Amino acid sequence: MAHVESLHQKLIRRARYLRYLGKPILWPEFGRRLKYKLFSKREDEKRLASQREEASSWCESRALSSEQALQIIGDSTTPLLPVRETFPGEFAQAERAAAGCPIKMGGAGNLDLLFSLCEVLQAETVLETGVAYGWSSLAILLSLQKRSHGRLYSIDLPYLELQNDRWVGVAVPESLKGRWKLFRMADREGAPRAIRAAQVFDLVHYDSDKSYAGRMSTYRRVWAALRSKGVLMSDDIGDNPAFRDFCEEAGVDSLVVKDGRKYQGVAVKP
Ligand SMILES: C[S@@+](CC[C@H](N)C(=O)[O-])C[C@H]1O[C@@H](n2cnc3c(N)ncnc32)[C@H](O)[C@@H]1O
Repeated sequence: MAHVESLHQKLIRRARYLRYLGKPILWPEFGRRLKYKLFSKREDEKRLASQREEASSWCESRALSSEQALQIIGDSTTPLLPVRETFPGEFAQAERAAAGCPIKMGGAGNLDLLFSLCEVLQAETVLETGVAYGWSSLAILLSLQKRSHGRLYSIDLPYLELQNDRWVGVAVPESLKGRWKLFRMADREGAPRAIRAAQVFDLVHYDSDKSYAGRMSTYRRVWAALRSKGVLMSDDIGDNPAFRDFCEEAGVDSLVVKDGRKYQGVAVKP
């Protein structure tokens, strides 16, 4: 019986995928996923464990606290700003909105570091990949609202099997949406569109496709659109060595921040 049920659930999931066929902007992502499943998945899974070990030990050997990283990027007096405590009302409202969401989505990144970087850079134009509930979007928008030209461009591919489109960004209040442009598609389609719209970014926060190939492709693309002294911050860099390899390729020294059990990478464009 359990087997019959799981087969039934599988069929429902597949049927949900099919509904996205009506969205041509998602077709390239379907193609990439199919190609990956057919030709690379098995090999990749074998490599994954050793890649993770290699990346984690590289991260651990360089790990700094968020406070230390900020003082290197700003100066020795730059404080780490606790965004939830700075905006308790906005976060309480966002918690309530997220609690009403029937689907479990990806969790928040290092919001204090992200908010503090927006403040140190006095960022006006920010790009983020990966929204889910929208905690990172909220943190960025709360900083951008202080500056008259502040604007956030976000890219998020919905969880295709969950059909969570209507819940993406649920933590962002209506009052901040005037500064927000959300591209509901994969990074590889969304990044060129966001770059065309904004031309240049002060800060990029990467928290979407965690595969090695996905990271390398989007890191390269968004790096070219960062201004000089702009910052690329990437979440979960302990998953695989893409952030390390990208920084080596770009010839930049990066910082690694340890936040709980996760690592974030921060690279400043020369
Ligand atoms: C960890 S969550 C983002 C969390 C968010 N940054 C926050 O702090 O609240 C990752 C999100 O990236 C999206 N995603 C996964 N692969 C993607 C891709 N190739 N392009 C764009 N978004 C993707 C997922 O659907 C999910 O919504």
